[in-house]
Amino acid sequence: MARDLVVITGATGYVGFNCLRHALLQGYRARIVVRSQTKADQLAANPTLQGIKSADYTFFVVPDFAVPDAFDEAVQDARYVIHCAAPVPIGGSNSEDLEKTFFEPSTTAITNLLTSCKKSGTVKRIAYTSSAIALVPFPIALGMEPAPADLIITGSERLPDVPTPLPNAFVAYAASKIAGVNTIERWMAQEKPNFDVQKLFPTYVIGRDYLATQSADLFKTSNSAVLRFLAGEKNEDKDTPEAAGCAHADDVGLAHVKVLDPGVPDNESFVFSTAVLWNDFPKVTAERFPEAVRKGLFPNTGTLKSFVLPVDNSKIERLLGIKLKGAEEMVDSLVGQYIEFLEKEQKA
Ligand SMILES: NC(=O)c1ccc[n+]([C@@H]2O[C@H](COP(=O)([O-])OP(=O)(O)OC[C@H]3O[C@@H](n4cnc5c(N)ncnc54)[C@H](OP(=O)(O)O)[C@@H]3O)[C@@H](O)[C@H]2O)c1
Repeated sequence: MARDLVVITGATGYVGFNCLRHALLQGYRARIVVRSQTKADQLAANPTLQGIKSADYTFFVVPDFAVPDAFDEAVQDARYVIHCAAPVPIGGSNSEDLEKTFFEPSTTAITNLLTSCKKSGTVKRIAYTSSAIALVPFPIALGMEPAPADLIITGSERLPDVPTPLPNAFVAYAASKIAGVNTIERWMAQEKPNFDVQKLFPTYVIGRDYLATQSADLFKTSNSAVLRFLAGEKNEDKDTPEAAGCAHADDVGLAHVKVLDPGVPDNESFVFSTAVLWNDFPKVTAERFPEAVRKGLFPNTGTLKSFVLPVDNSKIERLLGIKLKGAEEMVDSLVGQYIEFLEKEQKA
């Protein structure tokens, strides 16, 4: 296949690295945008990246995405962009300025990227990582309000911008993902550039973290949403069920690359959610890793009432040819890695 150049942001993070890995495995050349040379050096030393023999990539440092023209040089001569970089509030955020922390990347930085892509004249398509939280009102997602009986998420939903001030990091994150999509769609309608934007809306991304080097690292990403049940977190006093939905990290990474295929219709939206309940994860873990559970490597006793987020995923299989992986594959991938780390750490 043609070695087209794809610019990728966010590859120093969990989801973005999975996108990079799949882009390289599919034969793309990658220009990896990082915020510092130190980050570039850390990534270059990653064993997974080093293990992809045909990998053809360079790094480009953009220290601050919010600076005007920040991406002009970074996207020069590129045909595609995967824009995955954004702050994620795992374990809260220490930032006092939630609006700046979360909104600047989803408004100013995105506008800068789109403007640079238009100036480039070579970019044909952008894949943008949004989140399912941009499609589902967060009081429903968090179980603060019951979900309407006829709720079914397809990816075409659009929510209005959330007014400020923002009460906490999670709401600020949800608001930033809504703002990201709205910023892109307003800009595209106004500027009518020569490229389109594919929007990807994953629920919790679960699976092997190729950047992690120890068990504690796995709790610093969305994988903590599953590992907390293995660690024994109980939420018995919570009355209203929380929405449950997960996407395998491999499916999400691969989809970011598949949407670059010219056969995919312009400006599509894809929502990713495998039907699971949170309480399925300790059960599936006990089935897939009985020995680890029997030995008491972790408690595996966590619980949380949840409902399956009703999602129509059919477009992913129809347009991208990806059949979404289930809870078993997520557990094999993530819990398998967790057990590898725990066993190594016990021996040390
Ligand atoms: N994980 C999930 O379950 C999930 C679900 C839906 C959507 N997403 C989306 O996937 C993307 C990546 O999430 P993740 O889980 O991989 O998070 P992550 O591991 O924390 O990675 C975040 C990435 O974004 C970069 N970044 C953070 N703040 C930035 C800023 N202000 N300016 C420029 N770059 C910034 C980080 O770069 P540094 O290394 O330089 O900090 C890193 O590369 C986000 O857009 C997120 O909304 C994630």
